[in-house]
Amino acid sequence: MKLKKRIGIIGCGNMGGAILAGLLQNRIVSASQISVYDKVLSKAKTFARQWKTRPGKGNADVVRRSDIILLAVKPQDLFEAAKEFQGAFDSRHVVISILAGTPIAKVRRAVGPRPAIIRAMPNLGAQVGSAITAITGNQTRAIQEAEAIFSGCGATVRLSEKYFDLVTAISGSGPAYFFLLMELLAKEAKAHGLSESVARELAVQTAVGAGLLARRSKLSPAELRRQVTSRGGTTPAALAVFEKEGLEKIVSKGLKAALRRGRQLARR
Ligand SMILES: NC(=O)c1ccc[n+]([C@@H]2O[C@H](COP(=O)([O-])OP(=O)(O)OC[C@H]3O[C@@H](n4cnc5c(N)ncnc54)[C@H](OP(=O)(O)O)[C@@H]3O)[C@@H](O)[C@H]2O)c1
Repeated sequence: MKLKKRIGIIGCGNMGGAILAGLLQNRIVSASQISVYDKVLSKAKTFARQWKTRPGKGNADVVRRSDIILLAVKPQDLFEAAKEFQGAFDSRHVVISILAGTPIAKVRRAVGPRPAIIRAMPNLGAQVGSAITAITGNQTRAIQEAEAIFSGCGATVRLSEKYFDLVTAISGSGPAYFFLLMELLAKEAKAHGLSESVARELAVQTAVGAGLLARRSKLSPAELRRQVTSRGGTTPAALAVFEKEGLEKIVSKGLKAALRRGRQLARR
């Protein structure tokens, strides 16, 4: 096992589950090192049964039994959860918060003065081991522990907290942008007579191939695009329309809207 720490997961939803799966499948910790809790007890029990982890008796119990606490509740549930666990923290604890739009200063108000706090922003790719997780904090050891944890569900990058609203707009929300493009490709294929399942397969597998190529290639996405755009062919015909109709401006405006919304949420 790579990490000799006990880990408590508070919130057994999509993200808590994805991170737990990554931790165990990549043998970063063993199931006996993990405790889980969710306010819906049946979720915590299902989670514990599925992964053979220990179901905590409550949030405070999970904190007491752990060295590192992964906070994976919805941002609006932070203070309610905190009422249950605040007194249980001491200075040996590291809290890793993945709450979107929630600065470290706000997590500090919820967990009290004792634990170290790491802020992390993974994305949905965690469910298939292909997330990108931005990590920030001010203790090197705690950052390294967080990197070990999130390496189980993909890549990690260290960034200053001032970039977290941007990261949320780009990679946090990013999977939905790519889903939209797949949806539009499949819709057009269907409109021209393909069955739903074939249209979906064409769109999704094309996205998978393009993603893998971009991942493995030394070339930038722009260079890859130019390489596959043979003059006079079908690809430049489509790309010329995207350009003329202002796709770049639309994407830029959309990302700025996401960034503004992230900043609004962070101030709440
Ligand atoms: N999903 C993403 O792509 C993504 C990406 C980056 C970051 N995040 C962040 O990850 C966090 C979790 O997101 P998610 O999609 O996994 O949400 P989720 O599926 O709703 O999971 C959160 C879980 O926490 C439970 N919970 C609520 N209050 C609690 C409490 N006091 N004590 C213990 N458990 C409690 C919820 O129960 P109920 O359902 O009964 O409320 C739910 O089971 C969020 O803060 C989000 O901002 C998500």
